[in-house]
Amino acid sequence: MTKIKKLISGNCGVLRPDSVEDYVQAGGYEGLKKAFTMKPEEIIDEVKKAKLLGRGGAAYPVGSKWEQLLEISEFPKYIVINADEGEPGTFKDKILLGQDPLRVIEGMTIAGYVFNSHDGYIYIRGEYRAIQKVFQSAIDNAVKAGYLGQNINGTGFAFNIHIMTGAGAYVCGENSALLNSIEGKAGRPRIKPPHLAEVGLFLLPTLVNNVESIANIPTIVLEGGDKYLSYGTQDSGGTKLICLSGNVVNRGVYEIPFGVSLRDAIYDPELGGGILNGKKLKFFHLGGQSGPIGSEAQLDTVYCYKALRNAGLSVGSGAIVVMDEDVCVIDYLKGVTEFFIHESCGKCTPCREGNKQIYAILCKISAGEATNDDMIVLKHLIDTMTKASFCGLGQAAAVALNTCWKHFKSEFEDHLNKQCPAKVCFSEQERGE
Ligand SMILES: Cc1cc2nc3c(=O)[nH]c(=O)nc-3n(C[C@H](O)[C@H](O)[C@H](O)COP(=O)(O)O)c2cc1C
Ligand code: SF4
Repeated sequence: MTKIKKLISGNCGVLRPDSVEDYVQAGGYEGLKKAFTMKPEEIIDEVKKAKLLGRGGAAYPVGSKWEQLLEISEFPKYIVINADEGEPGTFKDKILLGQDPLRVIEGMTIAGYVFNSHDGYIYIRGEYRAIQKVFQSAIDNAVKAGYLGQNINGTGFAFNIHIMTGAGAYVCGENSALLNSIEGKAGRPRIKPPHLAEVGLFLLPTLVNNVESIANIPTIVLEGGDKYLSYGTQDSGGTKLICLSGNVVNRGVYEIPFGVSLRDAIYDPELGGGILNGKKLKFFHLGGQSGPIGSEAQLDTVYCYKALRNAGLSVGSGAIVVMDEDVCVIDYLKGVTEFFIHESCGKCTPCREGNKQIYAILCKISAGEATNDDMIVLKHLIDTMTKASFCGLGQAAAVALNTCWKHFKSEFEDHLNKQCPAKVCFSEQERGE
C-alpha cells in the first residue's frame, strides 16, 4: 500500500505555478467559494475538527489560535504567513511556495475572510529569491482573475497580500522576531505575553501561521474537518510534508499521512528508500537542528504528534536528517552547536554564552581532554539554557545534545578515552590519528 497521500502537494510539479487557469481547472478556489457561504465560526469549527496542528514546528492547534483571534474585537487584524523556513534540513515550504503558490494564497484569503482582515503579509526567506518572483506573479494573476484584491469573486470582500523578505537570520522565523523584522526593526524576539493575537504586527491583532498550515485550509474547508482528520491518526489530523536528507537514498519532500512509521519514512522504496551505499543507520534527527535525535531502536515509532512525543521525539518542522554508521555523534553535535552560535541573536545570556561554552566542551570531548567536571558543567549548561533562554532558539539549542547523550552515552565515553567508533571522525583527523 502506498505511504504517500497528496492532500496538499498534488499540484506541485504538475501545474504552471502562477496560472490561475490551471489552478482552477485542478479544483482550486473551491475552498474559498465554499468559505464565502459559511460563517467565520463555522470555518473555525471545521479547522478544530480537523485537529490541524501548526506545521511550523511548535504544533500549536490552528483552530484554537484562530478562535482566540476571532474573539478579539479590535481591528484591523493582520494575517501573517511564516515562510522563513530557516530550520536546517527543512525545505518543504519552498515546494508549496514555488510550485503551488495559489494554494497558499487561497488559504490566506480564507483566513482574511474569517477575521475580516484586508491585509496579509508573507515573510519569505531572502534566499528564496526566485520563489518570491513566482509568488508575486501568482498574486498578480489572482488579482487579475478577481480572486484577490477588491471585491473578491463578487462578494464585496477585499484582501491584499504583500511579500516581505528576510535577510537570512534563523531567529526571524520566531513569530515575534518575524513581526519586528517586517516592521523594519532588528529581528529579535519580543517578550510574551502580550500574545500576538492581541498585540501583533504594528501592535494590532495578528495571526501568524506557517505556509504548510495555511496550505491545508482550502482542503479542510472543502472536505470538512472530520474527513481531513480521517486521513491521519486520532490526534494528528491529515498529512505532513516530510523532508528527507542526509545519508538516505531518496532525498526530497514527501507528503505522508500521519500514522506511517519512522521505519517506513526512512526505508520504504517510495519514501527514503533506505540508507545510502547499503550502510546501517546510526541516528535520525527530527524537526531540524532544534529537534531531538532518535536511534534505530525507535524506528517503529508511529509518525504522529502523540506517539513521537511519548517516545521523546517530535515532528517539529518535518525534517528527517538521516545519518549512517560512519558518522561521529560528537562531530555532528559540534556542527549543530556551531549553527546555534552563529544564529543566536545575542539578546539573552544563556543562549549567547551557553552555546559557546557547550561548543568548547564538545571540542574537549572530541580531543579526549574533557574531565568529569566538564561533563557536570555541560549538564548545567543544558539545564540553564533550556529553562532560562528568552526564546525557543536557546531553549531548544541543546535538545539534540541531550537526546544524543541518552542514546550514545558510550560514544561520549569512548571519546573521553581518545577513541571514536565512527569511521569518519573529524576530531581524530584533527588530532592527526
Ligand atoms: C528560533 C525559531 C525559528 C522558527 N522558525 C520558523 C520558521 O522558519 N517557519 C515557521 O513556520 N515557524 C518557525 N518557528 C515557529 C514560529 O515561531 C511559529 O510557531 C509558527 O510560525 C506558527 O505557525 P504554525 O502555528 O502554523 O506552525 C520558529 C520558532 C523559533 C523559536
Ligand atoms: S534565546 Fe536569547 S539570544 Fe538566543 S535567539 Fe532567543 S533571544 Fe536571542
